[in-house]
Amino acid sequence: MSLKDVMKDIEGYQEIVREIDVLNKYGTDYTAQKGQARQVLDLIHPKKLDLKVSEIIEETASTKTLRLVPANGCLPPFQAGQYLNLVVSAGGIVTSRDYSISSPPNQTAYYDITVRRIDDGFVSDFLLDTVGMGDAFETSAPAGNFFHNPLIHGDDLVFLAGGSGVTPFMSMIREAADRGTNRKIHLIYGSRSTDDVIFSDEIAAICARHPRIAWTLVVSEPPAGYAGRTGFITAGLMHDVLGGSLEGKTFFLCGPEAMYAFCRDELRKMGIPGRRIRVEMYGPPRDVSAQPGWPAGKSRDAVVKVALTDGRSIEAHAGEPLMNSLERAGIVIPALCRSGECSLCRTKLLKGEVFQPEGVKLRKSDIQFGYIHPCMAYPLSDLEIMLL
Ligand SMILES: Cc1cc2nc3c(=O)[nH]c(=O)nc-3n(C[C@H](O)[C@H](O)[C@H](O)COP(=O)(O)OP(=O)(O)OC[C@H]3O[C@@H](n4cnc5c(N)ncnc54)[C@H](O)[C@@H]3O)c2cc1C
Ligand code: FES
Repeated sequence: MSLKDVMKDIEGYQEIVREIDVLNKYGTDYTAQKGQARQVLDLIHPKKLDLKVSEIIEETASTKTLRLVPANGCLPPFQAGQYLNLVVSAGGIVTSRDYSISSPPNQTAYYDITVRRIDDGFVSDFLLDTVGMGDAFETSAPAGNFFHNPLIHGDDLVFLAGGSGVTPFMSMIREAADRGTNRKIHLIYGSRSTDDVIFSDEIAAICARHPRIAWTLVVSEPPAGYAGRTGFITAGLMHDVLGGSLEGKTFFLCGPEAMYAFCRDELRKMGIPGRRIRVEMYGPPRDVSAQPGWPAGKSRDAVVKVALTDGRSIEAHAGEPLMNSLERAGIVIPALCRSGECSLCRTKLLKGEVFQPEGVKLRKSDIQFGYIHPCMAYPLSDLEIMLL
């Protein structure tokens, strides 16, 4: 008996031979398209983008929008709410920061990022004061999970924004307005002063045209005689402006860290379950020593030594993310979220102790085997680290 005869007796053999014949006759030969799938994927999910500034729009005294167009090729699609990690070389230091895309995804010619000045800013100052038309940047592709998924979040949305945290919501609101979706949106926008409200005219115009989109401005330091809502975004204020039942509403929260803690407590008081609250991480805290768990008596200004396994050694401040100290010393490690979320900067801690604030998403195995996220790890003692 030949091998062929033996094979015929194996269960399913005849069916498989028939299937191969059918595929040879009618199927697609993917080997002939070698590389094509990769090309399509690279167009939709490129690893990096080369963008240049095509327009600079003054939004308020402290805020500008940089309109970014591709230096070559086209822009990949994104979800309203995603951000870009923008790499800059400022004062001889290569570093990066994240900026939410404020233009809507249906606008395929450009990405807008809207940058607000902060006290003692580094990259924000550079972008606002030094960057001009035609300047080029390398960025990540659009990234992040802070976007609306109708299957999970429904179509009744409340956006809680603080200061520049309005930017991802602007993309979502512009998209809903442009595409005429059925989403119901209420933006509750907290701002310190009335002069610094970004996009106010456009938001008001959209709300006037679209009955399903509404906004409430809440000013914490109002001018004398101000007639609008004042104070903070409290449970009472939310009940008041949202009216009726809160059932089925999903709350999206984006803004400075102080606002997170405050609004989360208020939402809890209102009985909103955690699964109905979506939060965007907004980078490292400004004052890490005010975070829960920071060791009592430890000074932010303490200087420690960080030794790398390749023999290099740098100085770092306890109150600054380790990643910033590395970059200041010319050591640039991969970064995307700069909020302890994406794991891209994962580094092995061989010796010493770091503080990692709440919200840093370390895997169980990372904790067990001593991996840290330097974008949100603060050195408490001399360290020895191994870059991966
Ligand atoms: C997902 C996401 C979306 C965001 N979207 C927006 C947005 O739409 N608009 C917006 O305005 N902001 C946004 N942010 C915040 C933004 O990424 C920056 O954190 C913000 O612009 C402040 O950056 P900065 O460099 O000016 O300040 P910081 O990073 O706080 O730096 C302050 C100080 O630290 C020192 N320093 C920091 N890094 C270095 C370094 N590498 N080398 C030397 N010195 C250093 C300097 O002394 C500087 O003065 C977003 C953040 C995240 C995570
Ligand atoms: S850059 Fe995302 S975890 Fe550090």
